[in-house]
Amino acid sequence: MHITIVPIHEANDDIIFFEEKSCTEFGNVQLIPKGEELIVYIGIGQDSLTLEDIRFLGGISRKSLTNAKEDAAVSAEFSLIMNRAENPELGQVISSFMEGWYLAEYQFSSYKRAPKLNQLTMRWEEESLREYDHAARIRANAVNLARDLCNEPANKLTPTTYAERLKQVFHETDVTVQVIDGDELVSNEFAGIHTVAKGSSEPAKLVVLTLARDASKEKIALVGKGVTFDSGGTNVKTGKDIGEMKMDMGGSAAVAGAMKLLADSNTAANVVAILPLVENLADGNAFLPSDIIRYRNGLHVEVGNTDAEGRLILADGLLYAQLLGAKTIVDIATLTGSIGSALGLKAAGVFSNAESDLWHYKQLGDQTGDYVWPMPVYDDYLHYLKSDCGDVNNMSSSPYGGAITAALFLKQFVEKGIKWVHIDMANTVRPWREQGYYVPGASGFGVRLLFEMVRSELAQSQI
Ligand code: BES
Ligand code: ZN
Ligand code: ZN
Repeated sequence: MHITIVPIHEANDDIIFFEEKSCTEFGNVQLIPKGEELIVYIGIGQDSLTLEDIRFLGGISRKSLTNAKEDAAVSAEFSLIMNRAENPELGQVISSFMEGWYLAEYQFSSYKRAPKLNQLTMRWEEESLREYDHAARIRANAVNLARDLCNEPANKLTPTTYAERLKQVFHETDVTVQVIDGDELVSNEFAGIHTVAKGSSEPAKLVVLTLARDASKEKIALVGKGVTFDSGGTNVKTGKDIGEMKMDMGGSAAVAGAMKLLADSNTAANVVAILPLVENLADGNAFLPSDIIRYRNGLHVEVGNTDAEGRLILADGLLYAQLLGAKTIVDIATLTGSIGSALGLKAAGVFSNAESDLWHYKQLGDQTGDYVWPMPVYDDYLHYLKSDCGDVNNMSSSPYGGAITAALFLKQFVEKGIKWVHIDMANTVRPWREQGYYVPGASGFGVRLLFEMVRSELAQSQI
């Protein structure tokens, strides 16, 4: 069988096939068999199309064909989408459509007796178009790596198996993988990581991924929260949704995906990724509320709440990034429930000590589909983090602005002169909607955004 994808809008002659006008609406799909051929009509609506709209169209096209069962060759008509695209560049249009297509193809079926998905191959009449398809494949693969990691249940993805998995993923790439664990964590002063992991029988791992293709470039560090399960510790979480906390390593997954994308796209970067991996459980060895942790910079942190564990391990990551000489640090984490209360589920929060860059990141988010919205880091809130016993408390005394006080806590570990960006993605680790290229399970949030942030830093440092 051969399949043809035909975008349509109201001015199309093709709509005489349909009784209902609504099939020309954005996102509507109609499958019409014509002998040996299947025509897929997709409505593109009335308005101009963003790259995300085009990814969405690619996603729904692919999803409409999963029931076709048969393997088939596909061709697609892009001219109408091109005419409507806000940014009518053929390469970007094709790449975006195919990115949505491949992201929609994803399924997490490791533990299911699922039937195999039908194989559909795009036919490219012109050889030159194949490179855009290839770029989309690389991007989607990296996002799907992050999805895979997030979807793994906590008994399958422990800090140990996670570190092993990363070794496999980056085997025979330009990315080197170093794992720091055991006594080395203590002797090298990774106090936060060591402390949080104490209550679990799963040993902590600090994974360092290095891509030094161009060492002349300024070093950028990506730090990702990797809590493979967050029970809350002694401040145990209650409620039915605690199973969600298998995805509390979403930040580290985003960083791993971005490193894969940088590696596979041959980007000449100088990037180090720092992934603290721990499980937050409580047994007789667990850390306790009121405990004091001494960090390598001499700061003493009082544990006000063992469920605010993410910031404790990220603090080690931030300090280590500076020790390794990074001048720009981006951290990403499923850090607070509060960010979802502030922004809902569509956009993650982005914070920085270089405020003027925030709108630029917002723009990169809009382009990539990994939406972020600027948030403040008010130093005036620092008194909420005061500690009777140590220098700073990991828990705010205020019930308000929890995402901001979490960011402010992290800022205490960033030296002057270092550019620091923090992304709180607790609300976006799952998709905000299941339409388009999103599928059940994790969103794969952050991979494409971090990749573009690194590329944008590289471009800026060249000026
Ligand atoms: N992992 C959670 C944050 C989270 C919440 C992620 C919902 C995904 C969905 C984090 O470790 C946490 O528990 N944060 C606390 C902080 C509080 C104790 C200061 C929170 O947000 O309630
Ligand atoms: Zn927690
Ligand atoms: Zn957590």
